[in-house]
Amino acid sequence: MKSQASELPVGKAQPRRKTSRLAPLIALIILLTIPLYYPALRDSSKKLYETTSPRLEDLEDPITQTSHVEEAPPTEKPCSIDCHDDDDDKASVDTPVVVRQPAPVMKKNDKGRRKRKKSGKGQREDEKVQAMMRGRSSHRGKIRSRLFDEDECDLFSGEWVPDPDGPYYTNETCSAIQEHQNCLKFGRPDLEFLKWRWKPDECELPLFDPQQFLELVTGHSLAFVGDSVARNHMQSLICLLSRVTNPVDMSEPGDQNKRYEYREHDFNITMFWSPYLVRTSKTDPNDERRPYELFLDEPDPHWTSQVALFDYVIISAGHWFFRPTYFSLHGRRMGCLYCPEPEVTHLTSYFSYRRAFRTAFQAINDAGFGGVAFLRTYAPSHFEGAAWDKGGDCARTRPYRRSEVALEDYSLEMYLIQLEELRIAQKAGRRSGGKFKLFDATVAMLLRPDGHPSRYGHWPVINNTMANDCVHWCLPGPIDAWNDFLLQLFKTQLE
Ligand SMILES: *[C@@H]1O[C@H](CO)[C@@H](O)[C@H](O)[C@H]1NC(C)=O
Ligand SMILES: *[C@@H]1O[C@H](CO)[C@@H](O)[C@H](O)[C@H]1NC(C)=O
Ligand SMILES: *[C@@H]1O[C@H](CO)[C@@H](O)[C@H](O)[C@H]1NC(C)=O
Repeated sequence: MKSQASELPVGKAQPRRKTSRLAPLIALIILLTIPLYYPALRDSSKKLYETTSPRLEDLEDPITQTSHVEEAPPTEKPCSIDCHDDDDDKASVDTPVVVRQPAPVMKKNDKGRRKRKKSGKGQREDEKVQAMMRGRSSHRGKIRSRLFDEDECDLFSGEWVPDPDGPYYTNETCSAIQEHQNCLKFGRPDLEFLKWRWKPDECELPLFDPQQFLELVTGHSLAFVGDSVARNHMQSLICLLSRVTNPVDMSEPGDQNKRYEYREHDFNITMFWSPYLVRTSKTDPNDERRPYELFLDEPDPHWTSQVALFDYVIISAGHWFFRPTYFSLHGRRMGCLYCPEPEVTHLTSYFSYRRAFRTAFQAINDAGFGGVAFLRTYAPSHFEGAAWDKGGDCARTRPYRRSEVALEDYSLEMYLIQLEELRIAQKAGRRSGGKFKLFDATVAMLLRPDGHPSRYGHWPVINNTMANDCVHWCLPGPIDAWNDFLLQLFKTQLE
């Protein structure tokens, strides 16, 4: 396998520094506006969606984007892998997690920090940041290489290349496209974003072949566990399969959980709605949008009680972890993200993200799961120009080349946490029989700022109070490549 160091430019730390310098300021603004914004958004979205789809949670994910600018830079030392990698028995699933104080606490020091930078230490700080970036990047390459089998092609290191034949379905041929991702219907003018496919560096990634897929999965069942991006992926799969056949939709109307049966192929798809992966409770039973309490060491029985029935499970989670949340361990509240209570310990998203994945993977192993669990890694969003709620948008019409953008900052940290937890799960799975595989969507999607609905997830609104959606993906669109990956991963599993 090629070194990951060449895959992304290192030392491109400028944006990181800028973000962290601005972070306290933005954090303050956002903290002050969140409580006001929630009710406003609820009302406006109710109005707008009454006639179409009541799936308000699709606005949740852009909401979650508020917070990443508030994220404190990571200080967590990801040693759970490096420390134990060559010794299975020592791979502890209880590695203590060190977290840094959150942005609100950093506010106080802001002035001092800025002054220090101006007074000539800026360059040294830059160098430090760059050295850290190089360190993170090499850590990433190392841990990633351990997640592949020896002779396995790394499908996920590559570039987008032109594909004049795309797309392979349209809003007319597939009825499974959800309104908010139906960019063609809502008049997205540029269509070049449909004309790319993913080309791995070291091998070919064939385009999705629905016939071949259905033959492979006959007699099998597939579950998606996650949030609306997981559903986005599932709907892409259904659309790609619609060239051959359509499933029977067994879902309850209005339920976030979905079930589709391909009866003539004895293949079923289930979507378990579990955006935090672990057990949660609402702090306000009547309001979805109020912070959730996350029981970070308790699996979400909604999906873990059934997971052993599936042959394949695709686990994912992401943007919800940036929302205000309370954290419980051992049944007791022990921290929060962006909560107003001064007496509660303030922790970062990294804390809850790591814990949630650890608990989820452990639950899969404990359930006696004998199939293959894929971790579909974090898919970055692309708000530019401003925060998501201040008119930030994703208006680009072409993919990035990988020399133009680097995986860094909070996206890199979320991604590394996922890889580290996957590695721990893989080792534990060797004993319990479950297989854990990497489904690495992160860099491919980082390169697709052009693939989001932006404002084409709805009809033009006179009163432009709706945030642009730079989190989900147009259908058809670049997320279809996830099913090119999926077919290839299934093929290698079944060979
Ligand atoms: C599909 O998109 C076109 C515009 O590209 C639009 O005219 C048409 O109404 C859409 N059809 C459906 C079923 O969404
Ligand atoms: C798919 O679902 C149907 C109905 O619940 C069930 O009879 C069948 O066994 C399932 N097939 C697989 C492969 O899980
Ligand atoms: C537009 O939004 C503002 C602020 O949310 C609101 O006061 C006003 O009534 C809205 N106008 C229309 C036409 O919906």
